[in-house]
Amino acid sequence: MYKVLFVCLGNICRSPLAAAVFANKLKEKNSDLVFEIDSAGTHNYHAGKPADERVLLMLNDRNIEINHLARRIELKDFDYFDYIFAMDENNYEAIHKLAPNKNYKAKIVQFRKYDPYSQGSLTVPDPYYGDMKDFQVVYNIIDDTLENLYDRFSQGLEVN
Ligand code: 4NP
Repeated sequence: MYKVLFVCLGNICRSPLAAAVFANKLKEKNSDLVFEIDSAGTHNYHAGKPADERVLLMLNDRNIEINHLARRIELKDFDYFDYIFAMDENNYEAIHKLAPNKNYKAKIVQFRKYDPYSQGSLTVPDPYYGDMKDFQVVYNIIDDTLENLYDRFSQGLEVN
């Protein structure tokens, strides 16, 4: 069992999208791997709110379920989760600052490090002030990265 937490800034666009798409992938693949999946934000601007309506539209188009209310990352998340995936470099730094010790810092992973098409970028661009096209770009990045991450987990390869 792997416990994974996806973290972005507001926890209404990128990280809830990643969590929903990953859960759906596991279902589609009939995977034997067991994951506990959650998401959080480094800020609490939108705490208690559902995902952005543009995320809901994209998921609805693809028949992917989501059941999400935004929340901020908490200290206890560092203890509970095995992997904390930062969706961009600012999130990565913010999570690092919060992490109380080395063991916890070691759980923080740059999500896009596992995007086979990233061309060196470690950032899933923030789509919040963009349009549906920006959300589609984000969807594709997240989907490609999760596909590769799933393969790594299923092959027992290191993720760090
Ligand atoms: P997210 O997107 O970090 O992918 O959820 C954002 C959501 C809200 C804001 C910024 C980014 N905001 O400034 O309110």
